[in-house]
Amino acid sequence: MDDHRAHFEANRALWNARTELHYASQFYDVEAFVNGKSTLNRIELDLLGDVNRQDLLHLQCHFGQDTLSLARLGAHVTGLDLSDQAVAKARELSDRCGIRAEFIEGNVLDRRTELEGRFDVVFTTYGTIGWLPELSAWAANIAAYLKPGGRLVFAEFHPALWMYSNDFSRVQYSYFNREVIEENESGTYAVRNAPLQLPSFAWNHSLADVVQALIIAGLRLDVFREYDRSPYDCFQNTVATADGQFMIKGMEAKLPMVYALRASKNAGA
Ligand SMILES: C[S@@+](CC[C@H](N)C(=O)[O-])C[C@H]1O[C@@H](n2cnc3c(N)ncnc32)[C@H](O)[C@@H]1O
Repeated sequence: MDDHRAHFEANRALWNARTELHYASQFYDVEAFVNGKSTLNRIELDLLGDVNRQDLLHLQCHFGQDTLSLARLGAHVTGLDLSDQAVAKARELSDRCGIRAEFIEGNVLDRRTELEGRFDVVFTTYGTIGWLPELSAWAANIAAYLKPGGRLVFAEFHPALWMYSNDFSRVQYSYFNREVIEENESGTYAVRNAPLQLPSFAWNHSLADVVQALIIAGLRLDVFREYDRSPYDCFQNTVATADGQFMIKGMEAKLPMVYALRASKNAGA
């Protein structure tokens, strides 16, 4: 992990800079959230089941809208994120909405012994593992944080998408690319014309790499699904679908855009 300290520091600076912009953005629509709108999508809700009174850990929680949406469903929530600005904003949002939640700053690849065996659900969705150079510590930490019988709910953009150039005009990367991807893009997916230009360091992970990491960590795959549309309009050259989601123009219904899974820890573990 030491090899990647500089990458994590750069990514933390990036997410710190993005947080304030995202909090004020139409994309995240904090006003609607404060007024009671849930930010959770059908995809993850279908996998979650009843979370009322359950202990839930949200990894890579950004400024906490999903975390607090889960708390509104009755879960006792803890959010964790690398960005100190995101954690500060999440605490501010939790106070503003009067929703109880705990937020901690940390790297998902570092084991935190105080979280071990505490959670019925570990939840992590959309735009998460691409910030991680490898998945064995990620999966092992998730398994360690779950109670016996606990479940992981995970939804993510499909690795097929990351093969393409940002404008989806050509295949730029191998599906199996494991090298770091350094970019210096301006703006963010939520505020395209934002005056922000900072380096980012990201990694692709094939479906097999994800599933294999979970198996090696001792989790059992219970549900695995793929979707031809994204609930978020965070890519270039998209078209809206009749159900309010998004596809890539010219590849409508041909390209997998999201996958989601539920995995569980053996009740006797
Ligand atoms: C795209 S956002 C996740 C968004 C999430 N779906 C939401 O809106 O609630 C990615 C988050 O991952 C965090 N992050 C990136 N690398 C991380 C790491 N190594 N450990 C913990 N958090 C990390 C960033 O700070 C950022 O808040």
